[in-house]
Amino acid sequence: MPTKKYTLTNVATGKSSELEALSPTIGPDVLNIAPLAKDHGLFTFDPGFMSTAACESKITFIDGEKGVLLYRGYPVEQLAAKSSFIEVAYLLIYGELPSPAQLAEFGRSITRHSMINESLRRFYNGFHHDAHPMSQVSAVVASMAGFYHDSLDINNPRHREIFAHRIIAKMPTIASAAYKHMLGQPFMFPQNELGYCENLLNMFFAVPCEKYAIEPVAAKALDLLLILHADHEQNASTSTVRLAGSTGANPYAAISSGIAALWGPAHGGANEAVLLMLEEIGTADAIPKFLAKVKDKQDHTRLMGFGHRVYKNFDPRAKIIRETCHKVLEKLGRADNPLFELALRLEEIALRDEYFVSRKLYPNVDFYSGIIYSALGIPRSMFTVMFAIARTAGWVAHWQEMISDPAMKIGRPRQLYTGKTPRDYVDIETR
Ligand code: ACO
Repeated sequence: MPTKKYTLTNVATGKSSELEALSPTIGPDVLNIAPLAKDHGLFTFDPGFMSTAACESKITFIDGEKGVLLYRGYPVEQLAAKSSFIEVAYLLIYGELPSPAQLAEFGRSITRHSMINESLRRFYNGFHHDAHPMSQVSAVVASMAGFYHDSLDINNPRHREIFAHRIIAKMPTIASAAYKHMLGQPFMFPQNELGYCENLLNMFFAVPCEKYAIEPVAAKALDLLLILHADHEQNASTSTVRLAGSTGANPYAAISSGIAALWGPAHGGANEAVLLMLEEIGTADAIPKFLAKVKDKQDHTRLMGFGHRVYKNFDPRAKIIRETCHKVLEKLGRADNPLFELALRLEEIALRDEYFVSRKLYPNVDFYSGIIYSALGIPRSMFTVMFAIARTAGWVAHWQEMISDPAMKIGRPRQLYTGKTPRDYVDIETR
């Protein structure tokens, strides 16, 4: 694997070390800095992991300059056009597209695992009706370890597989239970004859007293959003899942940590924040005033749904979602959606503005996703939960990849200490 070597020399002592640059299958070389601490007693300093690869992975590849996103080598555009979320989840976890029989078996297993334990369902009663659904979902997922003692051996591949199927299957049920709890409506059980997204919509919007007609366009749009959010290499929540999982913690605890990390507005919480921002801006004539606030360094306002740590050209997912927005709104008979119009205008103005151009800030996946969720009837507070349902597939794939690697180590970063040097304790009477 090593292709190039770099030499690091301490100019004071003349001591040198050879560092190997590891070659990925695509993307820039990665310098192996492991010898630095041993040879020179040196750590590296890279706040925010701006240029640090924390692990080796075969799951997802991003080229931020070219706007490329590949799941297991397949371009996300092709998967969005031809695949389904369940197939993508299989691809992410098992590494290859399934045969028809494998896909049918995986789908059957996901369907069969979708109910949640009745005791777990009673957990929701402990939440106030206006508790944010992300707090409910992260707590319920963390609690799942208490229900599955029979399959928690992380070193047993079959246990890991059962966990993977269980969590993917139950996330829609867990999410919809949180939604129904917020509304004060009865919980709707999963229906085995429905597909993953149809079931999700049914659990959200059906009520026991009348039939609910699932809109195929809505199910298709939801499936697409889940595909586009399914994985994104070592983002903050996935890295959190890896770090928590690296301690040997049970996988439900690791996924729950990922859900908590996703909640932040700089990450998955952005979809909710975008809609809030659009509602606050209100009309197109207020855009210049809002952008002036965004550009004012004394003000902490950000243009939500814009900018990305890795994409410095465009986010391919945003492009697909914007096109889908047009189609979905039209098909659902909501083509004259004022928030979508406002978002389009905001994007147009921002992309011509020197502030955003010079910083390479483009719409990210969540600039338009909330508009589709809204058109499907999903309330703003549930947007990040929808993201969590999708990203569970990626989190599971990364956790599996990490745990099944015999070279796995606990994640333990070092620091640049800038605190006090040693000093003696001062008795309280003399302070
Ligand atoms: N609005 C205004 N200015 C921005 C924005 C934004 N959305 N994003 C970045 N900037 C500016 C910063 O102020 C900074 O300017 P400066 O150089 O004058 O100080 C510069 O662009 C670089 O920004 P950083 O914050 O250093 O970039 P970083 O890679 O650390 O942050 C992030 C990426 C967190 C996504 C950021 O762009 C952001 O906060 N965007 C808004 C929130 C959002 O949409 N998050 C969703 C990301 S996608 C996802 O997780 C699903």
